[in-house]
Amino acid sequence: MIEATNLTKRYGDKTAVDSISFTIRPGTVTGFLGPNGAGKSTTMRMILGLDQPTSGTVTVNGKPYAEHATPLREVGALLEAKAVHPGRSAKAHLGTMAATHHIRAKRVDEVIELTGLAAVANKRVGGFSLGMGQRLGIASALLADPDTLILDEPVNGLDPDGVQWVRTLVRDLAAEGRTVFLSSHLMSEMAQTADQLLVIGKGRIITTGPVQEVIDSVLASTVRVRSPHATDLASLLEAAGATVTSPEPGTLDVRGLTGETIGDTAYTHHLALHELATQQASLEAAYMALTQDAVEYRSETTTPEPIPAGAPR
Ligand SMILES: Nc1ncnc2c1ncn2[C@@H]1O[C@H](COP(=O)(O)OP(=O)(O)O)[C@@H](O)[C@H]1O
Ligand SMILES: [Mg+2]
Repeated sequence: MIEATNLTKRYGDKTAVDSISFTIRPGTVTGFLGPNGAGKSTTMRMILGLDQPTSGTVTVNGKPYAEHATPLREVGALLEAKAVHPGRSAKAHLGTMAATHHIRAKRVDEVIELTGLAAVANKRVGGFSLGMGQRLGIASALLADPDTLILDEPVNGLDPDGVQWVRTLVRDLAAEGRTVFLSSHLMSEMAQTADQLLVIGKGRIITTGPVQEVIDSVLASTVRVRSPHATDLASLLEAAGATVTSPEPGTLDVRGLTGETIGDTAYTHHLALHELATQQASLEAAYMALTQDAVEYRSETTTPEPIPAGAPR
């Protein structure tokens, strides 16, 4: 369990994290989502005691991180740009870490196995790809078998296999009852990995809740309806509280009612339907809508996923 109360960090006159409060619960994967510069890494560093809050507090299992007797066993962390001695092998690096933290040597082999590093365990870390470096960072985070995992942009630099692997790994760790808190600036990634979302922009929490609720709260799904009685049906649906637009004669886009309700209404009034299709708003579209006012920096190489036809924009 991670609990933040009015957590704030200022760098000079720049407010990186602006009085945020949240609770990250065990047994779920919580995605910390926000555009670059939103304050994700700063928040994570404060959780780990690497940055002092300007004001507010944050605790892990009831205590500030630094007050735990064996913090590494409490929280495993992967931060951005982790420094590892380039001349050492992955196995030597993990071995040194294990030795200095009284972790049994056998655990080194376990995490090497778990993170798919067996083939390169004896190679110099300096020659590692970004993806291998990420795997080594995750191996370090898992070394002390902690109850809480904090992973800052863990899929950065990973190939599709690696992304899938991280996804499965964090879901398994949460299923074991651990607290898993991971950040990303990629909505599509979070949609497939997280149970809960904490969306942040410009240092403030924009919204939080189960992934699907977050999407639904921003972009209600639209139901595409085609009927030879579109005009009559539109009146009935509007009377039932829906917002109805007609992109072309005979076709309606209905918001605010489910496909079931629309179908039942048509049936009750003996109006034929030729199409009834719920168009799910994409998570990417929801994210864009959520953060459009909070983007400080948008990479020119990042193209958002296309919004599916029919999704409100
Ligand atoms: N050490 C620092 N000194 C000054 N500004 C910083 C420092 N670290 C982060 N910032 C600023 O704080 C804001 C949040 O940064 P960060 O937490 O790294 O965001 P994110 O991880 O979401 O991309 C950014 O505007 C960044 O430039
Ligand atoms: Mg960051």
